[in-house]
Amino acid sequence: MGQDIEITDTFHTPNYNRFKKVFVKGEGVYLFDDEGKRYLDFLSGITVTILGHADPALVRAAGEQAKKLFHVSNLFYTPSQAELLRVLSGTFPWKGKVFFCNSGTEAVEAAIKLARKHFKDRGREEFKIISFDGSFHGRTYGALSATAQKKYHAGFEPMLPGFLHVEVGDRQAFKRALEEGVCAIIFEPIQGEGGVRPFDADYLRFVCEKAGERDVLVICDEIQTGIGRTGRFYSFEHYGVVPHIITLAKGIANGLPLGAMIVRDDVAASLAPGTHGSTFGGNPVSCAAAVEVIKRVTDPSFLKRVSAMGEYLQKGLHDLSARIPVISEVRGLGLMQALVLSVAGKEFVSRCLDMGLIINCTEERVLRFLPPLIVDEGHIDEAVSILQKVLSGEQR
Ligand SMILES: Cc1ncc(COP(=O)(O)O)c(C=O)c1O
Repeated sequence: MGQDIEITDTFHTPNYNRFKKVFVKGEGVYLFDDEGKRYLDFLSGITVTILGHADPALVRAAGEQAKKLFHVSNLFYTPSQAELLRVLSGTFPWKGKVFFCNSGTEAVEAAIKLARKHFKDRGREEFKIISFDGSFHGRTYGALSATAQKKYHAGFEPMLPGFLHVEVGDRQAFKRALEEGVCAIIFEPIQGEGGVRPFDADYLRFVCEKAGERDVLVICDEIQTGIGRTGRFYSFEHYGVVPHIITLAKGIANGLPLGAMIVRDDVAASLAPGTHGSTFGGNPVSCAAAVEVIKRVTDPSFLKRVSAMGEYLQKGLHDLSARIPVISEVRGLGLMQALVLSVAGKEFVSRCLDMGLIINCTEERVLRFLPPLIVDEGHIDEAVSILQKVLSGEQR
C-alpha cells in the first residue's frame, strides 16, 4: 500500500485530495482495499459504476469486444457503436442523433459548440449561453465557463466570453439575460456538485418555456442525473420539460470512458462532416459495455426498483435526521440523495470510510449518497446504521 501511495504522490500532479486507501478489486456494491478490508460503495466512483463492480455480463461484453477489436477510427463503422446507437435511440424524446466522446466535459463542450454553430448556420448572431448559479458542467474552458461557481474558476481566469450566470429561481434575471443575445441555456435538473439541489419544477418549466419563445436551445446536462439515477432514464422526465440537447457520461459504460451528446435531428444537422470530432469517442469496447448498461437500465422493472430503493434510502435518512441534531435537511431524488448538515461534513466522510462506508461531501456541509443502482434494502440498512454511529458521535 505504502508504495502505491508514495509513487502516486510523487509522480501524479497534485490536483486530487486523495484518501490514503488503495483499492484493488470490487464485487457488486462492495470495494476491497489492498489489506482485504471490505467497503460499502455509496459513491460509485461519483455515479459511474451504476451496475456495481465486476458485473459478470458487463465483464463478458467488454471482454469479448476487447478480444476482437479495441479501436477503429470514426472514419469507419463498427457493430458495437451501431448497436449502442440503436439501443440508445429508444430513450430519445424525439427523433435524434448522438455524438460520442470520452467524458462529461467533452459532451458539454460538444453541446456548446453545436449551439453556437446552429445559430451561425441560420445567419443568427446570438452566441451567449445561460447557466445557473451552483452548476457544474466540467473543467475544460467551455464547460468551465458554463460552470457558475467561482471556486472552479479561481486562478484560471479569464473565462471564455459569452457565458451568463443566473441565480436559480430569479425569473426577472433570467428574462433579462435572455435578451442579451443568447443561443442556449444549460442546466442540471438536480445540481450534483452544487450540493444535490433539485430545480423547482415550476421555475424549470418557466425557464424552458421562455427559452422556447425565443427559439433558444435548451441543453439538459444529465451527466450526473441520467441513466436511471433518479428512477427515470433521464431526470428531466420528472419535470415535464423536453430539451433539444442532452449530455450523458459517467454511468453510461459503467466506468469505461464514454460520453454522449444527444441532439434533436433538426439541430444535429449543424454538425456537418469535419466540424467536430474525437479520436477515441465511441470506441468499440466502451460501446459494448454501454449496450449492456442501457439494455439493463431501460428495463421498466429496473427503473421501478431504483425508485423504490431511492424512497427506502430517503426514508432511512429522514429517520436519521429525526434523531440526529446536526442534520438540517434531507434532499434528493431516487438514488441521488443527500444529508445537509449544520456543520462541516469532511470529518464524517473520513469516519465513514474507517467504518467501511464510502460517501463524499460536496459544498462543505452536504453528505452525498450515490450508490450503485443495484443496491438492496440490506445495503441501505448497513449504510444508515454506519451513518447513525458516525453522526451521533458513537464512533470517534
Ligand atoms: C453535471 C456534470 N456535468 C459535467 C461533468 C463533467 O464530467 P467529466 O468529469 O466526465 O468530464 C460532471 C462531473 O462531475 C457533472 O456532474
